[in-house]
Amino acid sequence: MKLHVNRYLRLAFLLVCLFIPLLSWAESAELATAGSAMPEGVPDPKDLLNILIISTCAFVLLVLIYMLYMLRVLMNELNPAAIRKPLFSNLIKKLSDAVPVEDEHSILTDHNYDGIHELDNNLPLWWKYMFYLSIVCAGVYFYYYHFSGYGKLQIEEYNHEVLMADKEVAEYMKRSANSVDENNVKRLTEPVRIESGKVLFLQNCAACHGKGGEGGVGPNLTDEYWLHGGGVKNVFKTIKYGVSQKGMISWKTQLSPGNMQEVTSFILTLKDTHPDHPKAAQGERYEEEKEVVSK
Ligand code: HEC
Repeated sequence: MKLHVNRYLRLAFLLVCLFIPLLSWAESAELATAGSAMPEGVPDPKDLLNILIISTCAFVLLVLIYMLYMLRVLMNELNPAAIRKPLFSNLIKKLSDAVPVEDEHSILTDHNYDGIHELDNNLPLWWKYMFYLSIVCAGVYFYYYHFSGYGKLQIEEYNHEVLMADKEVAEYMKRSANSVDENNVKRLTEPVRIESGKVLFLQNCAACHGKGGEGGVGPNLTDEYWLHGGGVKNVFKTIKYGVSQKGMISWKTQLSPGNMQEVTSFILTLKDTHPDHPKAAQGERYEEEKEVVSK
């Protein structure tokens, strides 16, 4: 009975050992997917297929081993006279380099702890070679990571990853900045973007609206009077679609939505700046609504 329990325990242990690395592998596969262009939470089907194939192979292998084992047990039972030695007994003996129980007195040390004796077994060969190998590995590791300049240390790897993530965020911000339109546009307040709007204004608009927005061919942009409505949405809309029959072109083919948002936000900062030679007010007085300011 005891033997049976042992056997099943061993099998269960094997199974667990097999599935722990599989689990961690599946997790890393998922992590790798999360970083790729795939939508979040959807593992790459290729990874799933690999995991499935490997798990199936491992399972079939286990079943085969188990069947072989059962075959031996059966053969022993059919012909008890020819009980076979445990599988690989010679190999195991060689690997462990252990002295047989009968000869143990030859390696008995004189240590004696309350009647418990100590044997002076040789270290198994494989153990010794693993030890030497680990020393070699340590040397190689040390050279590779600390001297050769090839291996990246943890902190470098971390910094690299942070850099890549920052890049991704910047790209995302750029994309989302370019998805603004007249319905969702918000007034910008970051000095960098206002400054960018000013540059765009001086390059593209000052010829008609004046360097300070005081007006010229185009209307005064610093007063409270607007032909096409003030406020961020109206101004954005006028810039985007233009008023072609009146000489104000549509800018949507020349400026990105992000740029139009910048120049719009810059124009809104011109209010009440009272530049020299202002053009007389045109249009209607615009009552400022409560505007949502985007950060
Ligand atoms: C070729 C001259 C010209 C250029 C260049 C020009 N505009 Fe205009 N803009 C006009 C004219 C003319 C109007 C008045 C249209 C009307 O009478 O309806 C106008 C109107 C506007 C208005 C609406 C003002 C109101 O009272 O409602 C805004 C805002 C504006 N322009 C912004 C810009 C921006 C931003 C640029 C640069 C990207 C620009 N314009 C470039 C000629 C110009």
